[in-house]
Amino acid sequence: MTNKNYLFGEQDSETKRLDLLNAVYNPWSKNFLADVLEKTGGKILEVGCGQGSMSQWLAEHDNVDSVLGLDIDKLALKTAAEKNIPKTEFELFSVYDLNQLRDQFDIIYQRFVLIHLTNPAAALKAIYNQLKPGGIFVCDTGIHSHCFSDPKTDSYDNFIKLVLQMFASQGKDADLGKTIASTASKIGFIKEHIQLQQPLLRRKTEKNLMYLSLKNAQPLFEQEGLATADELNSLNQCMLKDIENEDSIWAAPTLCQFVFRKI
Ligand SMILES: C[S@@+](CC[C@H](N)C(=O)[O-])C[C@H]1O[C@@H](n2cnc3c(N)ncnc32)[C@H](O)[C@@H]1O
Repeated sequence: MTNKNYLFGEQDSETKRLDLLNAVYNPWSKNFLADVLEKTGGKILEVGCGQGSMSQWLAEHDNVDSVLGLDIDKLALKTAAEKNIPKTEFELFSVYDLNQLRDQFDIIYQRFVLIHLTNPAAALKAIYNQLKPGGIFVCDTGIHSHCFSDPKTDSYDNFIKLVLQMFASQGKDADLGKTIASTASKIGFIKEHIQLQQPLLRRKTEKNLMYLSLKNAQPLFEQEGLATADELNSLNQCMLKDIENEDSIWAAPTLCQFVFRKI
C-alpha cells in the first residue's frame, strides 16, 4: 500500500526530512507526552509512526507494555523495523483500517498524520473506537498558515503559499489544528490538556527541514500544476541559498497538542 498523494512522497530524502522533523519537534512532543506517561502506560499504538522515532521513545518507558507503530510508507517502516526496538512492532496499515485490529489500546498517539488525510474525522472515529474505555489519544497536529519569516524571505514565504495551495487542491486542511478539537468533541472525546508551540528556525541545519520539504514536494507541486518545473527549480535554488542566512527567522508549522480522553 502506498500513498501517492502524500505531499512529501516516499523516497530516500524523506528519511532525511523525517530525521530533521524529529530533531525540531520531538522535544516538545516528548514533553507533552511525559505528563500522560506518568499516569498511564500499558498498550500503546502510534499511527503514522514514520521511522519510529517516537515509538522508540515511548517503548523506553517502564510502564509501557508494548508499542505498535503503523504506517503506509514501506520505506519508513523498514527503517523503523531495522532499529529492533524492544517491546515494539511495526506494521503496514492505514489509520482508516484500525477496526481490523483485534487489540484495543490504553494510549494512541499521532503526529502530523491526520493533517495529511482527506477525511480526518473518519480517522479520529477509528482511533476513538480502538481505544479502551478511559483510553487517551495524544494528538500532535499542525497549522501551516501561521508560518512566517523575519526578515521576509521570499523563497520561504512562496514555499508556504504552495503548501497551502496543495493542501486545498487535495481537499486537505493545512490548518487542521484550528478545528480538530471540535471534531474530536463531536465524536465523544473529552479534552484534557491543550497547548500550542511554534518552532522558530534559525540555523541552517534547522532550516534544511524546510528546504527538504520543498525538494520532496516538488514533483507533486508540478504534477498538480501549481508551478512549472522552471519556477520550482528556481525556488529550490533560492531556498538552498537562503537557508545559509542564520540572521533570518523562519517560523515552522505550529504544533497543536491535545490530550483527548475516551469516556
Ligand atoms: C509528516 S509524516 C510524520 C511521521 C511521524 N509521525 C513523525 O512525526 O515523525 C506523516 C506520516 O503519515 C503517514 N500516513 C499518511 N497517511 C496515512 C494513513 N492513511 N495511515 C497511516 N499513516 C499514514 C505517512 O506515510 C508519513 O509517515
